[in-house]
Amino acid sequence: MTVLTSQPEWQRLTELATSVKSTHMRDWFAEDPQRASKFQTEACGLYLDYSKNRVDQEVLDTLFALADSQGLSAHREAMFGGANINNTENRAVLHTALRNFSGEPVYVDGQDVMPEVLATLEKIRAFTHAIHSGAHVGYTGKPIRQVVSIGIGGSFLGPKIMTEALKPYTHDAVKVHFVANVDGCHIHDVLSTLDHTETLIVMSSKSFSTQETLQNTLSAKDWFLSQGGSQQDIARHFVAVSSNVAAATEFGIAEENIFPMWDWVGGRYSLWSAIGLPIALALGFDNFKSLLEGAHEMDKHFKTAPSKQNLPVIMAMLGIWYRNFFDAQSHVLLPYYHYLRGLPAYVQQLDMESNGKQVTQAGQRVDYATGPIIWGSEGTNGQHSFHQLIHQGHGIIPADFLMPLNVPNQDDTHHAMLASNCFGQTQALMQGKSFEDCYKDLEGKGLDEEQRRSLAEHKTMPGNKPSNTILFEKLDPFTLGALVAMYEHKVFVQGVIWQLNSFDQWGVELGKVLGNQVLAGIVGSADHDQFDPSTQQLIARFRKANAP
Ligand code: F6P
Repeated sequence: MTVLTSQPEWQRLTELATSVKSTHMRDWFAEDPQRASKFQTEACGLYLDYSKNRVDQEVLDTLFALADSQGLSAHREAMFGGANINNTENRAVLHTALRNFSGEPVYVDGQDVMPEVLATLEKIRAFTHAIHSGAHVGYTGKPIRQVVSIGIGGSFLGPKIMTEALKPYTHDAVKVHFVANVDGCHIHDVLSTLDHTETLIVMSSKSFSTQETLQNTLSAKDWFLSQGGSQQDIARHFVAVSSNVAAATEFGIAEENIFPMWDWVGGRYSLWSAIGLPIALALGFDNFKSLLEGAHEMDKHFKTAPSKQNLPVIMAMLGIWYRNFFDAQSHVLLPYYHYLRGLPAYVQQLDMESNGKQVTQAGQRVDYATGPIIWGSEGTNGQHSFHQLIHQGHGIIPADFLMPLNVPNQDDTHHAMLASNCFGQTQALMQGKSFEDCYKDLEGKGLDEEQRRSLAEHKTMPGNKPSNTILFEKLDPFTLGALVAMYEHKVFVQGVIWQLNSFDQWGVELGKVLGNQVLAGIVGSADHDQFDPSTQQLIARFRKANAP
């Protein structure tokens, strides 16, 4: 038994889970008319109804006590204070400093990072203004009208999904395209529609060593030169965001065109840094700043609100409850807002790359479940496919339903239907439909007793399936910033409980190394014996199909 599982709070939660498993949420609602109003809270423009969860006050109190016993406050202070909490890489974790508008310094190794953070923000502002106003023109004197953002992982998902989510706020000066995959179809499709004289390439790579991003940028450079641009003109059409300034300069990006970031910003936490430059270009600097301000507001809430009102803490501890005491393998995100359809993919990277681990910070193998599978897609589409499994499949899949109360440019009928589906699903998941009701519905349908019983069994919905509902007035930049920061802190709290380092990613790093080794095998510059027989066979097939 590890330190975590031997905690008295953990032991108590195990006992409580046994009794909660024999209780139905619909009985709780029937017994306590105040239940819905008891289990709700609000902060930073986000309203959370968590009453449709399989918890009572004692469970919640014990979950919060567990968080205390794991030293949540001290861990939180360490992160905000710039301690090297990413212990396997000996780095601080300070995405919160990137949106720190408190005027307070933030120290890393005794040095205040805020002056360079603010200077970079000013550089983003000035550059965005220069592009939008037409002060920065392409080499033929034409204004920049198209931006191609090249990056992958955290250097892609944040900018792409925030830009998509804030579509109603799009600035009309430029159109921003995103390319991530090394699959050549993508960059080809994007570039083939563009005029190189009015195109800006933003190459985003913290390490400046990621194969996909380097290759896509090389292809963009070849395209630019093949269209008539010269080596000298590149300075007006290519900029980079990276913490590796030396590699970016060596690659040919002019030093003044490099937007810095720092090793204390993790890739999946980097949209608040200059990695967010494409967001500023797409939406305007003021909207980008408002996104950061919303996140800062959530930081303040997370730092100061007591657990029972603290959105990230509540969401995190509910997740622990289901993952560790109900064996929930996955968690589904269901945004009922088309523009927010990318959120599941964003949180998927954030959560799974952070807490997809099985060794504690101290290097011990865990004996409890850690990060769940995160998935989902926009409502109502999912209702006509995978919701079946959430309603009637084996086990439970806790769900987050998200919806703005107001939407731009839409007729009210659509929005009311969307809301009714969203709320209706949470109700159906909670209440289910009993065998008795289904059996009654089949009366007079011409079925014999056996057929009637059997069909009623198929139609029975167990219910008792947990969900959170998160509502907000509208999805403006501030609210989106708060929402994303809420999920960041949720993941942080869970990492603290599970005693993980949520800020490294050795699993995906290995993928990068192996990808490069296999590439050497494919192009013939590496000995094939180093690969396993299956991989050798795959390489051989590929080489044969591509032989000159
Ligand atoms: O794929 C792993 C990863 O390291 C992510 O964490 C990161 O966001 C992505 O690669 C891109 O890395 P970079 O910004 O260094 O190109």
